[in-house]
Amino acid sequence: GVLVIFGATGDLAQRKILPALARLERDGKLPKTLQIVGVARRQEHDDASYRQWAAGAISQGPDDEANALLPRIYFQSIGDESSERFQALEARLKELERKHELPGPRFYYLALPPQSLQHTVLSLGHSQPGTRGATRLVIEKPFGHDLDSARRLNQMLHQRFDESEIYRIDHYLGKDTVQNLLVLRFANPLLESVWNRDRIESVHLLVAESLGVGSRADYYDRNGALRDMVQNHLTQLLSLVAMEAPSSMLADAIRFEKAKVLRAASLDLEDSFFARYQRAGETPGYLEEKGVSEDSRTETFVSLKLQIDNWRWQGVPFYLSTGKRLPQRLTRIRVKFKRAPVCLFESMGTCMLSSNVLDINLQPDEGFEMHIDVKVPGSPMRLQSIPLAFQYASRFDLMPEAYETLLLDVLKGDQTLFVHAEESELSWSLYAPLLEQTQRKLLDYPAGSWGPEDAALHLAL
Ligand code: BG6
Repeated sequence: GVLVIFGATGDLAQRKILPALARLERDGKLPKTLQIVGVARRQEHDDASYRQWAAGAISQGPDDEANALLPRIYFQSIGDESSERFQALEARLKELERKHELPGPRFYYLALPPQSLQHTVLSLGHSQPGTRGATRLVIEKPFGHDLDSARRLNQMLHQRFDESEIYRIDHYLGKDTVQNLLVLRFANPLLESVWNRDRIESVHLLVAESLGVGSRADYYDRNGALRDMVQNHLTQLLSLVAMEAPSSMLADAIRFEKAKVLRAASLDLEDSFFARYQRAGETPGYLEEKGVSEDSRTETFVSLKLQIDNWRWQGVPFYLSTGKRLPQRLTRIRVKFKRAPVCLFESMGTCMLSSNVLDINLQPDEGFEMHIDVKVPGSPMRLQSIPLAFQYASRFDLMPEAYETLLLDVLKGDQTLFVHAEESELSWSLYAPLLEQTQRKLLDYPAGSWGPEDAALHLAL
């Protein structure tokens, strides 16, 4: 088929999409017939100059097999996005399909800012009457700004495309360790048998980032941590950790179970924290970042408490936390199990019973650790919590990048790792009470710290 990338000169194409395609090509995973058409407003590129630009993005050595991809990359300007331009694009795609005898399907990857999405989707639909099923549409985040806008987006998409043709990206789902959550849970009955309110005390999901907003202040300041990280990535993690076993590993079965979690989830509004980083030494505070508005009230840290009212989880708090400019980059799910009901060792002068803790480290040090108590050799009797640890790096070669996995799935037509329309709306509606708050307390935390003190219990460091 033909993969058409809208936003072909943008940051995402440069940093993620093209490099991922190149690595797939190097590993022999791309169909040899796949042709790639970069589409952007700019006029200055032709095929040759875009190839050169793409080569820079891919930055492989001269003999690298990924370079075999370059002759299959083309460029088409969409200029003022007029219908003539879309017709010209359509003609070009048809010509390529004819020349290379490509039966389809056609893939449209929309790496576009939200304001360009609607016009592009509707224009694509117009140029292709009656071809439902022959197209796959990839939509990047952000998917809406709140429940209303997400609904409108879905309605707009469904005017032209069937849900089975729509691939909403949440790149966290493409991470191997995130997919491993399903394996960890449903291939290991030992764990699954204690994965419930009888045995689990609390679950702490954390996505910590050490970087600040960098050059993306313009986007970030209009969104903040709740929209940027919680509504999508953390909520996906929550669904995977809390869902029931699906009836099969097919996309619909899995997405159905994930949606059920969101239906049963609710926020504890009293126990939620919003904060932003302040200058610490050389590190500037959020308000000092270039592009952040002077009177900004945008949070760079958020920590929430949720409950899931179903048979498995009633009464177990789930904490979702994320922040920029925290001490380290770390995505971790910490599951705290209940303590032993009786402290048998008290009479021997020790009762430092810790609860069992399972840490699932999603990145960067992929793996997990199960903390259990052991007796320290000798007397008097003393207990110590030690980790039973597994690290991916000690056993397996490099992990694929999320985008490699997701692109392959689009080409294969597997929607499992993509967000369903219903999920996107359920997730926005879960956070609606917070998004609707007009007056919200915004705490401070020094850049490089673990966020505001008040939220420390949520993080369970
Ligand atoms: C993106 C957010 O979706 O995810 C960024 O917009 C964030 O703000 C990034 O930095 C984190 O992704 P990863 O894969 O580095 O954990």
